[in-house]
Amino acid sequence: MEKATLIFNGKKHEMPMVKGTENETAIDISQLRQETGLITLDVGYQNTGACTSSITFIDGDKGILRYRGIPIEELAEKASFTEVAYLLIYGDLPNKEEQQIFSQRLTQNSMIHEEMLRFFDGFPPTAHPMAILATMVNSMSVYYTDYYTEDFQAETFDLMAASLISRIRTIAAYSYKHSIGHPHVYPKRDLKYASNFLYMMFDSPVNPYVPDPDIERALSILLILHADHEQNCSTSTVRLVGSSMANLYASICAGICALWGPLHGGANQKVIEMLEQIKNDRLTIRQCIESAKDKNSKFRLFGFGHRVYKNYDPRAKVLKEYCEKIFKKCNYQDQLINIAMELEDATLKDPFFIERKLYPNVDFYSGILYRMIGIPTDMFTVMFAIGRLPGMIAQWKEMHDTVPLKIGRPRQIYTGNNLRHYVPMEER
Ligand code: CMC
Repeated sequence: MEKATLIFNGKKHEMPMVKGTENETAIDISQLRQETGLITLDVGYQNTGACTSSITFIDGDKGILRYRGIPIEELAEKASFTEVAYLLIYGDLPNKEEQQIFSQRLTQNSMIHEEMLRFFDGFPPTAHPMAILATMVNSMSVYYTDYYTEDFQAETFDLMAASLISRIRTIAAYSYKHSIGHPHVYPKRDLKYASNFLYMMFDSPVNPYVPDPDIERALSILLILHADHEQNCSTSTVRLVGSSMANLYASICAGICALWGPLHGGANQKVIEMLEQIKNDRLTIRQCIESAKDKNSKFRLFGFGHRVYKNYDPRAKVLKEYCEKIFKKCNYQDQLINIAMELEDATLKDPFFIERKLYPNVDFYSGILYRMIGIPTDMFTVMFAIGRLPGMIAQWKEMHDTVPLKIGRPRQIYTGNNLRHYVPMEER
């Protein structure tokens, strides 16, 4: 294979190339420092591959997203969320028997330790659900200790993975019930993943939960579309934390915290708040766009732009089409949809957005669908976390399956003071 050549100080250094199955090519710079004393600088990792991975393929220019080779559009149309979780973690779609074992493991691990219920009482009523989620997931590492060992082991990993995928849904629903002062609802063994979550969220002795297949499918689609997105901010955090051999619960907790930020998963909450602000303050679409373009204004158009997608976000495309279909079918009205459509139309014609290749991303449409399902706005990012969990787990496993496990440890270019000495207080 070809090699890349770097000429530094008149001396040639050859570096091997690495090619992926979709012909993505990288220069392997792992020996660069030993040979030349140089490091590479890439703030925000805009151009740095941190690993090789066989889980998810993205072509940002063509708007392609595939899990283990299967297009996201096919999975959104035909698969169940637990099938997709299995696909991501274990590499292939499950056969009937594998699916049965996996589902059984999820059911067996769906309840949370009763003592953990007391934790909910410790949070103030204003606590953000993402703070609660991260805390509770980390707490799982003290309640389900027999599931993990220092060495990564297949049997305990299977249990830990199922424990997380199943319990995160219970934790999220309990946190909502607690926030509205209602008693929690235990999971039911005969319900499927999305239905069980909705049941725990919305069932009560006075208002029994009435299943609606359209709503349940809408939720499954949302979870599937979020299930993995290769080396994004939160997944990279999971890998980085896991690379120190921190346990899976702790690594996922760190990923959840990274996801919370408004530039990442937190954008879905911000989008709805932004659309509500436009509606309530009677802002014009032009005013919004001008504020987003103004470098002195803190206003950003949430739900627009992406580090990788420079054509369109395939997840947003699936969601937009699905929203149009389901809203018509259910005769669902929401003023925010019209505002969102107007905003999208206007940005697609605006040179600032065209030049910078800023298109609606997954968070632009997901919030509108969560609203229809009845999820409160401050829980949108929790929904993103539930969806993203299988991907985070798959990436953590892939890293641990790769021998040897390398601790993540970037370098830096130091720009601080040169050597100077301590000055006693009275002389300062
Ligand atoms: N509104 C206004 N201007 C924007 C926006 C936006 N949403 N996004 C990017 N820009 C501008 C930015 O100011 C910059 O302009 P200039 O070149 O004049 O300085 C240019 O576009 C490039 O932006 P960047 O911030 O350097 O791009 P990035 O790749 O570092 O950031 C991003 C990507 C997603 C953080 C950013 O587009 C953004 O902040 N978007 C809004 C938040 C959002 O919707 N996040 C969800 C992302 S999708 C879900 C997920 O996977 O996390």
